[in-house]
Amino acid sequence: MRSDLQFHLTYDDAEVNKCLLCHEPLCTGACPQKTPVGEILRSLYFLNVKSGVDKLANTDCTYCNAPCEKACILSAGSIPVGIRDVFMALKKDREVLPDHRIDAVDISTDICGVRLENPFLLSSSVVASSYDMCKRAFQAGWAGASFKTICSFPQHEASPRFSSIKNHSNAFCGFKNIEQLSDHSVEENMEIFRKLKEEFPEKVIVASIMGQNEEEWASLAEKCEKAGASVIECNFSCPNMEDEDLGSTIGQSAELVERFTRAVKSGARLPVLAKLTPNITDMVPVAIAAKRGGADGISAINTINSITGVNINTLVAEPAVHGKSIIGGYSGPAVKPIALRFISDISRAKELEGMHISGMGGIETWYDALEFALLGAGSLQMTTAVMQFGYRIIEDLVGGLQEYMKCKGIASFRSLIGAASGTIVDHQSIERDFVVYPVINYDTCNGCGRCYISCMDGGHQAIDFDTETRTPRIIGKKCVGCHLCRQVCAMDAIGVSSKAVPIQ
Ligand SMILES: Cc1cc2nc3c(=O)[nH]c(=O)nc-3n(C[C@H](O)[C@H](O)[C@H](O)COP(=O)(O)O)c2cc1C
Repeated sequence: MRSDLQFHLTYDDAEVNKCLLCHEPLCTGACPQKTPVGEILRSLYFLNVKSGVDKLANTDCTYCNAPCEKACILSAGSIPVGIRDVFMALKKDREVLPDHRIDAVDISTDICGVRLENPFLLSSSVVASSYDMCKRAFQAGWAGASFKTICSFPQHEASPRFSSIKNHSNAFCGFKNIEQLSDHSVEENMEIFRKLKEEFPEKVIVASIMGQNEEEWASLAEKCEKAGASVIECNFSCPNMEDEDLGSTIGQSAELVERFTRAVKSGARLPVLAKLTPNITDMVPVAIAAKRGGADGISAINTINSITGVNINTLVAEPAVHGKSIIGGYSGPAVKPIALRFISDISRAKELEGMHISGMGGIETWYDALEFALLGAGSLQMTTAVMQFGYRIIEDLVGGLQEYMKCKGIASFRSLIGAASGTIVDHQSIERDFVVYPVINYDTCNGCGRCYISCMDGGHQAIDFDTETRTPRIIGKKCVGCHLCRQVCAMDAIGVSSKAVPIQ
């Protein structure tokens, strides 16, 4: 059940989240009705429900003995995805999907004034590190790519270089990398730019660069402009560099950011983005320094300094490289709240008015992407989700975003940029004189009692629980309206009262 989409869907998303999203899925091949089973599951996984419903079309699973489930890779060792039940429920869910208020929407936008056919770009990393990979991505539908950071000094990569924290469905919550920059020479990368520009003139190449001094920053920018890049992105934020005055050390110094941005501006006429580090308390002063240096926009966030875990058998932190590890950059869904906070800070800063924001950090679905846009990001970049799921997710990013806009009657993506910015206020301005109480919906409550436990031990002891009938009851006098109960409810059975009551 997905309540976050604001309409009540009955298909079991826990089943969908079990799906391994296989390459060339065997479930699809097994369907006697030739339904693209795997593609439907993928669309649902990425919250593109309407597309899932459309692909399901007239499929009728009623009398089918579900060969798709027998073919499911999971059936070899455990319980396969309950595809038949998901599809039967999805057929009913077709009825609750909201109608389109408009038929055509425009999701084009720009990055520092350069047109993007849609808001989605690959962010600078391994996913945009070669001609073949960018070509594949462009053909799949990505609007552009911030190419893997180009530099003129050699890289010394470690192996292995990744570690992750996973959720129960084996998907990344967070992902750590200790990777450095492009391992191609500057000339090789310029050749890639030339080829891509020639073959894909409509796609936007953002050249991510890192120099060791002002001359190098300027000269890299000049070369990238000549080779066909449309925007320069200064990597002031890689946490995995060995030397001083490189990577995130720059992004922690307003003085260096201003100086190097100015150098880049002197080398090229292209728009310039300063990609900033979240490994700092306040990004705004550094962003202002970038603006002073001539930057046209800010990219944020790069990865967050992290240790994902320690192997309790070997006693070495992950990833273990010859018995040792280092602090590395964290990305993926876990960093999204931190990224959103930085995007919001930058978008609300008066001194930065008019600057483009290219947002990233944990975007997986169109829904995540939209949140970045609503807080002020005009373009959206992604790496970790692509590393995990592949370029194919662009279909559900675009499809899901378009569907949302059609249902809401929003004709232009641009009108969404910053639309929620004003809802973030300072601590003195939040309403503190009223309380809204939680309301239990007994039709959907399954009587698990988790709200009771949480309220007893982590709340205000304001829920009673009848063990005979397995019924929780809110004690009005004790409830302070913190809504911890709502957060822990697995059935989405606790709502919010429509009345705000003044605190006595
Ligand atoms: C393996 C890996 C390599 C990366 N390399 C670079 C890089 O060369 N330059 C750069 O600016 N950012 C680099 N990043 C950071 C990403 O571009 C992005 O800012 C960050 O991962 C947050 O987005 P995400 O959560 O969508 O991955 C890298 C990230 C990962 C995971």
